[in-house]
Amino acid sequence: MKAIIKGSRSFKGRFKPPADKSISHRVAIFSSIAEGKSWVKNFLLAQDCLATVEALKKLGVEAELNFETAELKINGRGLSGLKESEDVINAGNSASTMRMLAGLVSSFPFLTVITGDQSLRKRPMDRIICPLSQMGAAILAREEKFAPLCIKGATLKGISYSLPVASAQLKTAVMLAALRAEGETTIIEPAVSRDHSERILKKQGADVEIEGKIIKIRPVERLKPLSFFVPGDFSSAAFFVVAALICPESEIEIESVNLNPSRLGLLEVLEWMGAKFKVEVEKDEVEPVGRIKVSSSSLSSVDVGGSIWPRLIDEGPVLFVAMALAKGRSRVFNAQELRVKETDRIKAMAIELSKMGAKIEEKEDGLIIDGVDKLKGAVVESYGDHRIAMALSIAALRAEGETLIENAECVQVSFPSFFEELKKICQAEVHLIQ
Ligand code: S3P
Repeated sequence: MKAIIKGSRSFKGRFKPPADKSISHRVAIFSSIAEGKSWVKNFLLAQDCLATVEALKKLGVEAELNFETAELKINGRGLSGLKESEDVINAGNSASTMRMLAGLVSSFPFLTVITGDQSLRKRPMDRIICPLSQMGAAILAREEKFAPLCIKGATLKGISYSLPVASAQLKTAVMLAALRAEGETTIIEPAVSRDHSERILKKQGADVEIEGKIIKIRPVERLKPLSFFVPGDFSSAAFFVVAALICPESEIEIESVNLNPSRLGLLEVLEWMGAKFKVEVEKDEVEPVGRIKVSSSSLSSVDVGGSIWPRLIDEGPVLFVAMALAKGRSRVFNAQELRVKETDRIKAMAIELSKMGAKIEEKEDGLIIDGVDKLKGAVVESYGDHRIAMALSIAALRAEGETLIENAECVQVSFPSFFEELKKICQAEVHLIQ
């Protein structure tokens, strides 16, 4: 599918982002090993999370997903109840599914083979293979680091492990393995990454202790089932946050969005850039939830590097759009992780934003971006990466003329209604061509 987008006028509106992808994956996986029935409302009906539910079914989990109401009911099998899958599990485009499931099955004495699409088969899996093997699982992979992964689970032992990268997927894989390992597991993070797993597992009665960047987990007899409403995804809302900032005389109110501080690095950076917004936490049970009001702002350049990255990791592409339209020179460094996402997001954004008239130079660990007043419409490529397709769509709002985005169907991965919302909220002209 191709998306043709013509720049928007000013816009004002309200918007409820789709359900959080990270939380949807986790509630599905964690419910499947709980004792009893879990009920999840507002589950994200997008390709990545559907891949997780299908995978769990293959492992013997009874899961019923209602596509009308977005409710997921899971009959948990308890901590020891998973079954060997008869067939290969396909995680599609979802690294969260592959990495977390690898952790989950590592302690079960059966064979699991997990593969994924072309993009996922190129992403590094050695980061999970290493700790899970140290705990006792046997894992084979192509060139020792790429999927398909072939996992023969075993009785695991707890380890003390310093994560080589601040990755919440990796952290969660080790936490899931630790739930059934002998003794205590200690995980040391180099920087704080999203902590949804810690919050949800604690709610389920897991023995998780957190002290700054150190997490300790000890096995428990059982996990409690969940009754959970998944809040909106800040990473999806982020596209409209930036849209409101860069489009003159615009204002948006984002409702029912997850406001977990470990996800809000983008807001910190935008504040440094001079963005005008207000954040209001309305409820704080397992996860803080509330609203964000944003209005168009004149943005200045900023330097971004270091330990903030894990807290804005998925917002890199749309942040680069804001930088491309900010006054002055922005520098992005320590952002190597963006090169191993669904595509190389540093390279992709440097090439595609340049086509739209941005002044952007690629560096090994980031970018140098000189802000311009306006972009120009162009034919650009998404590389099959949902967040590249959406970030370029936001850039198109401030481009003269039309922008055509190739392979735009990938928004299905996390935000299937993205183009409808873009039309509705930003009043952009959007045409989708098959
Ligand atoms: C995620 C963690 C991040 C993020 C991804 C979702 C998660 O990946 O980019 O979209 O749900 O744990 P890494 O763990 O590779 O940083």
